[in-house]
Amino acid sequence: MDLFEYQARDMFEKHGVPVLAGKTATTPEEARAAAEEIGAKSGGVTVVKAQVKTGGRGKAGGVKVAKSADEAQQYAEQILGMDIKGHTVHTVMIAQGAKIAEEYYFSLLLDRANRNYLAMCSKEGGMEIEQLAVERPEALARIAVDPQVGIDEAKAKEIVEAAGFDAETGAKVAPVLMKLWEVYSQEDTTLVEVNPLVKTEDGEVIALDGKVTLDDNAGFRQPEHANLVDEKTEDPLEAKAKAMDLNYVKLDGNVGIIGNGAGLVMSTLDVVAYAGEDFTGGKAKPANFLDIGGGASAEVMANGLDVILGDEQVKAVFVNVFGGITACDAVANGIVGALKTLGDAATKPLVVRLDGNNVVEGRQILADFNHPLVTVEETMDGAARKAAELAAQA
Ligand SMILES: Nc1ncnc2c1ncn2[C@@H]1O[C@H](COP(=O)(O)OP(=O)(O)OP(=O)(O)O)[C@@H](O)[C@H]1O
Ligand SMILES: [Mg+2]
Repeated sequence: MDLFEYQARDMFEKHGVPVLAGKTATTPEEARAAAEEIGAKSGGVTVVKAQVKTGGRGKAGGVKVAKSADEAQQYAEQILGMDIKGHTVHTVMIAQGAKIAEEYYFSLLLDRANRNYLAMCSKEGGMEIEQLAVERPEALARIAVDPQVGIDEAKAKEIVEAAGFDAETGAKVAPVLMKLWEVYSQEDTTLVEVNPLVKTEDGEVIALDGKVTLDDNAGFRQPEHANLVDEKTEDPLEAKAKAMDLNYVKLDGNVGIIGNGAGLVMSTLDVVAYAGEDFTGGKAKPANFLDIGGGASAEVMANGLDVILGDEQVKAVFVNVFGGITACDAVANGIVGALKTLGDAATKPLVVRLDGNNVVEGRQILADFNHPLVTVEETMDGAARKAAELAAQA
């Protein structure tokens, strides 16, 4: 999960990373009050910053320097409700204004390809770092960080030297990098990015912007991270599936997919995508990933169908189950139970492919049930084509 800038700011503060005062506001009046309070520390100057989980806010007009509380209120009025790359601004942060002398860049991330962590650092931060990395890669130092060691004093020194800082500035930046390592490791993140990390006119080094990605797989040992979830920006179907403990990812097609086992579901997405391309000229595509796991009880099947049928884009559903430990007759009973539970809520055609353990009994159960919305297909390819056809026709 990505954090908002204000959440990253608070997390930085907790770990001793130098940050400036900041306060969120959801109305222009609140922004004015926050600017009166925070501006008192910086000669009345504050910065009104859109809180959206995407980059390039400044360029989009979502970051404005305000010289008075009046101005902060006006900017908040402009920025609240603004759309930045498809993200609506519901909240702004009123940040204390900094007197910036220089802007730097620092990030620490999980480097999957090298099975390691990677630190990136540049004396030329603030602007688009992607552009710098392409045009002048030599200006962006890349230093591998051993997860067992992290950024200790020696590593911090190596990073600031590679980035080309002079000794005096480097000595001020290095301790901040060590604190950012503390954030990265203790909070179980996969990304901590600071752009810009600034040196002020007084020579202080401060993190002025922060991007943090939490590793959701570590959520079990970070219970307080649950408080950082923002329902407004969470996909409602994904939230519902999460509450039911389902392994669900929303995609943007029209064929709902349910399968047992992540590998089978992944290949089901592939065959549906191929069938959709081949057979309907691209009019049918997978609408989601949903793995109901080994058990596939009627309850889990009903929950899964409930989530998928709640997706307005879905026009047909493909249930692809291979009976292994759970036999096909149990799965077929699960489907029957689910359709009975859902009753009139089940409104879209269901294509079912069952194979494996007790397949004959399983198919017989569905044949006896004889539900008007259910089509049973023998092969995975056949079922994918049928589901694609139904979705494309709808
Ligand atoms: N508190 C502040 N005081 C003074 N100037 C600021 C402050 N915060 C940001 N700025 C200026 O605004 C610029 C853009 O701010 P910021 O980095 O937060 O947004 P952004 O880079 O446009 O957004 P994103 O990081 O999402 O792409 C900074 O490079 C800095 O020059
Ligand atoms: Mg930035």
